[in-house]
Amino acid sequence: MNAKLSPGLSHDDLDAFWMPFTANRQFKSNPRLLAKAQGMHYWTADGREVLDGVAGLWCVNAGHGRREISAAVAKQLDTMEFAPTFQMGHPIAFELASRLAGLAPPGLDRVFFTNSGSESVDTALKIAIAYQRARGHATKTRLIGREKGYHGVGFGGISVGGIVNNRKAYSANMIPGVDHLPHTLDIEHNAYSRGLPQWGAHLANELERLVALHDASTIAAVIVEPISGSAGVILPPVGYLKRLREICDKHDILLIFDEVITGFGRVGAPFAAQAFDVTPDLMTTAKGLTNGAIPMGAVFAHRKVHDAFMHGPEHLVELFHGYTYSAHPAACAAALATLDIYAREGLLTRAAALASRWESAVHSLKGLPHIIDIRNYGLIGAVELEPRAGKPGTRAFEVFLKCFERGVMVRQTGDTIAMSPPLIIEPAQMGKIVEVLAAALRDTA
Ligand SMILES: Cc1ncc(COP(=O)(O)O)c(C=O)c1O
Repeated sequence: MNAKLSPGLSHDDLDAFWMPFTANRQFKSNPRLLAKAQGMHYWTADGREVLDGVAGLWCVNAGHGRREISAAVAKQLDTMEFAPTFQMGHPIAFELASRLAGLAPPGLDRVFFTNSGSESVDTALKIAIAYQRARGHATKTRLIGREKGYHGVGFGGISVGGIVNNRKAYSANMIPGVDHLPHTLDIEHNAYSRGLPQWGAHLANELERLVALHDASTIAAVIVEPISGSAGVILPPVGYLKRLREICDKHDILLIFDEVITGFGRVGAPFAAQAFDVTPDLMTTAKGLTNGAIPMGAVFAHRKVHDAFMHGPEHLVELFHGYTYSAHPAACAAALATLDIYAREGLLTRAAALASRWESAVHSLKGLPHIIDIRNYGLIGAVELEPRAGKPGTRAFEVFLKCFERGVMVRQTGDTIAMSPPLIIEPAQMGKIVEVLAAALRDTA
């Protein structure tokens, strides 16, 4: 596809990089190399413009090439490239935590920094278990995830996650004491729902069944994505998340929202917790926090969770957990500059204003070949294709390739084409995404 690789790079030079979540041999025989980005667009190594329909990987929420962010990072690197946060601190880490606390749902005003979504998830799971222990409920260690859930690739995340390919090679190595709720994707009842599906709130009652099976005295926390991205955009039925919250409260179980993709404006509010009016006890975030410029994640903890640790002798470390690069100065600088842009341009709520146009654009694809469902919320869209017999995922992969050839980047997971454009998208660009996707679908057997 990029017949000419970038200057100085030959096909042989592609060998050493073992690429993540990639069919390495297939990719390297036909590489897709991105070389430059600005606004809503990438440019390939051979100079073709590509409209970014997925905000990089759901993370470049303010669009590409934001000079305030790169300038803030450069300035910070020149001033102090690194400072430890174990028994030391640096001012902008505290400033950033306070700014984030101000954006969060009520009560979630204590922030633990990580470097990725996976680290945020494993951090939140560890905090949940340690919290139960800290308040004298040491038997509450079990974690409940959900089928089709994606919570990154750490051992904690794949254990509570529910995507078979991420789990099967490690089935004997999962962390113990995990169970799963059923997923909420039901095409039979909910195909072509606009926004949240009406059917399925009762699926949250399955948590009561798991409590009856294991007993609440053994369960530390439930973790779900308010909207799943990686398994193909799965939406919570109306009332589902509220019901989960009620059952968790009833049985004194923590509720964790994994907001790695829904955080920072994707659903029309700073966080899905606010959009859906359901407040979790812990919230994991990463994508969008620095506009993708520097890796960073953050776990938001309810003050009651945090305060349960603040007992005992004051000279003792309360939580034996942290990363060398927690609150890395360059990442903090990037995040502060990103939050400034979000505030100045109203990006954390812009998706709400664009949602109905986006919904109409995405649902206009109904009736095109192979489509069996279309889903949307905020600035998220998904088109589900009928899988080819015996070859799951191949049809959607072909559609993804054809879109890329025609200048639009979408994302393929299984037989779903997912879209999550930067929050600066304009209506004409929505039109282009849909037009190119339609042409690709018409062209695909
Ligand atoms: C809901 C959710 N949690 C966790 C992760 C993992 O994040 P990372 O790839 O930054 O480790 C992702 C990544 O897509 C995600 O969608």
